Amino acid sequence: MKVAVVGAGYVGLVSAVCLAKIGHDVLCVDRDSSKVSTLRNGTVPFFEPQLENLLQDEVKAKRLAFDTDTTEATRASNVVIIAVGTPSNGEDASHNLSFIDMAVEDIAPGINSFKVIVVKSTVPAGTTRRLAASVRRLEPAADFEIASNPEFLREGSAIFDFMNPDRIVIGTETPRAHAALDELYHYFSERNCAFVRTGLESAELAKLASNGMLAARIAFINELAELCETVGANIQDVARSMGLDERIGPRFLNAGPGFGGSCFPKDTKALVALGKENKVPMRLAEAVVESNERTKLRMVQKIELVAGGSLGGMRIAVFGVTFKPDTDDMRDAPSIPILSRLLENGAILRIVDPQGQKKGKAHFPNALWFDDPYAAAAGTDLIIVLTEWTLFRTLDLPALAQSMNEPRIADLRNIYNPEALRKAGFAAVSQVGIANRDAGLQ
Ligand code: UDX
Repeated sequence: MKVAVVGAGYVGLVSAVCLAKIGHDVLCVDRDSSKVSTLRNGTVPFFEPQLENLLQDEVKAKRLAFDTDTTEATRASNVVIIAVGTPSNGEDASHNLSFIDMAVEDIAPGINSFKVIVVKSTVPAGTTRRLAASVRRLEPAADFEIASNPEFLREGSAIFDFMNPDRIVIGTETPRAHAALDELYHYFSERNCAFVRTGLESAELAKLASNGMLAARIAFINELAELCETVGANIQDVARSMGLDERIGPRFLNAGPGFGGSCFPKDTKALVALGKENKVPMRLAEAVVESNERTKLRMVQKIELVAGGSLGGMRIAVFGVTFKPDTDDMRDAPSIPILSRLLENGAILRIVDPQGQKKGKAHFPNALWFDDPYAAAAGTDLIIVLTEWTLFRTLDLPALAQSMNEPRIADLRNIYNPEALRKAGFAAVSQVGIANRDAGLQ
């Protein structure tokens, strides 16, 4: 099929590349002309494993091209996928739909024959129907159908997730729209992927609900982690026990410094806003938002405690600042409020992050940046682990401890075995949800 993808961010670009890979003829458009020229040169403007190589392959195979003109791209396509960003509105934390409205204004005049408009951006329930009305208002004679098709990919494993989806959710209301989406995703139906075919509002809500549920699991496990620390339990044992119950399952039960990223914080708040707008209280989602804020601040207290004194002038090595490994994304990363607080208290930060330096520098302009964790840790009084990059998992802990001025560690992702830390010579250890006496440490 001839497919236009509007928006070359994480979701748009990954979708464009993967749809090309499964054989469609894809034109990816973005208003940002400098981004488009970067993409035309075969460079991806953010870090996502495998994406750049795949993009280059698809461009070479002439299945993928880039442009800035959405109207022209619509004219040339059968299916137009909207994948622009829907950031948080400042005031009430609902989704800001201005980019999606702009996209529709550009798409409408390009409807020169039958088109199917597919909304992939995360939007509140009711938006897709409203967008269809906008197109009709702008171009009363336009022959088109609309569909909601949320995307569930994760940063850091986006290509794998797109190519191996747990499910494909398709919200349509007419046989024509249904048939077009079937053709678009034929590759996946041939491979027995689960499809959920539903109405527009259910498809839209499925995305917010999934992110809300996953965020709630993390908030729950993080609250339990605090309880574990207080009553002398171990969150990893508790989570394992929970996860072996098939009704619960083991994933997304890792305690840490709070969830971040471009989706969970924004979408839980948007769920609360959608509830308010419809006069349906979303009390659990509200609590999740609040709980996550508290978890991030609690990390500062844990750090102060393990530091054993004033942070003023203390040299601290920070392992990881991105909101998760395998991305350079800093959006809503827990590192931002946590490290900002340490900086306010006079700490000197020496940061290592395999991909986070470029975007991280804007948040922590006075920090020193290192490529090598050993160099960052040398002569410091404390290590803080904020992101569980593989690089940090395989370090020589005794060598690390020996190079420090005071071997102390706040492992806020629980990547190290507490016993191994003790043996390596770390005198003070803080982990999340692991009471010190579990590890035989003071
Ligand atoms: C998420 C959803 O997983 C994805 O389906 C949706 O399309 C977009 O939002 P993403 O934000 O890329 O994906 O990352 P994810 O792996 O879900 O992690 C989000 C945050 O939760 C990270 O800060 C991560 O560190 C945190 N997290 C995740 C935990 O603290 N504990 C866990 O067990 C899992």
